[in-house]
Amino acid sequence: MKVILIGDSGHARVIADNVTSNGDTVIARLDDKYSELEKRGECFYGPSSSVHELIRQEQAKVVIAIGANAVRQKIASKLNLSEDNYATIIHKEAIVSPSAELGPGTVVMPGVIVNAAAKVGSHVILNTRLVIEHDCVIGDYAHVSPGAMITGGVLVGDGVHIGAGATVIPTKSIGAWSTIGAGSVVIDDIEEHSTAVGVPARIIKTADQTVSTANRKA
Ligand SMILES: CC(C)(COP(=O)(O)OP(=O)(O)OC[C@H]1O[C@@H](n2cnc3c(N)ncnc32)[C@H](O)[C@@H]1OP(=O)(O)O)[C@@H](O)C(=O)NCCC(=O)NCCS
Repeated sequence: MKVILIGDSGHARVIADNVTSNGDTVIARLDDKYSELEKRGECFYGPSSSVHELIRQEQAKVVIAIGANAVRQKIASKLNLSEDNYATIIHKEAIVSPSAELGPGTVVMPGVIVNAAAKVGSHVILNTRLVIEHDCVIGDYAHVSPGAMITGGVLVGDGVHIGAGATVIPTKSIGAWSTIGAGSVVIDDIEEHSTAVGVPARIIKTADQTVSTANRKA
């Protein structure tokens, strides 16, 4: 498979390693820091607007290789490609249950385990050595960071960022566009657009306010 990466930063370099681990090839790195499309060696570099032309010309698939969830969503909406235009990239050293589902544009890094009947949305980052247990649902544009442990039946909303090494206990829900701090342990449902940190995780920010230290709640 030929793959076009949108984005040309550190995260894109990690995704490029995932692509090549499977014997696939990165044929283009598109980023709006480039003003026009040019070929250097075997790879095209150019603005993201070149993507439509390259898909046609190279019959390549696309991955939005940008770490920030909201930016990934904005670019997907701007490009307006069909689901078929996106690749799902699974590193050869990841383990994904045959009964799990992964959406288009989603990237699964080395050492990840996705267990039975988990449903992972589109444009999700499942980062190095994390575990998604059975029956979890992970929303579109989420990023689960390295080493996180998402236990059975957890619902992770669209655009959620779960920090490195965080744990969510079974069947809890993390509302859309929330952030869970690195190393935190979530033992209660977390409302959307919140930031929760610590063991157990307490909400320190909601959509419209910062919760005072004296008044933090799970
Ligand atoms: C949760 C997080 C986003 C908060 O960032 P922030 O909004 O800038 O918050 P601040 O750094 O101002 O910290 C606010 C408070 O939360 C505490 N806090 C922040 N992160 C924490 C964490 N992970 N665990 C426990 N407490 C934490 C701070 O000590 C501070 O407490 P105080 O008000 O009593 O002083 C960030 O700290 C974090 O953990 N990010 C995850 C990073 C990560 O794993 N990236 C993976 C990339 S692959």
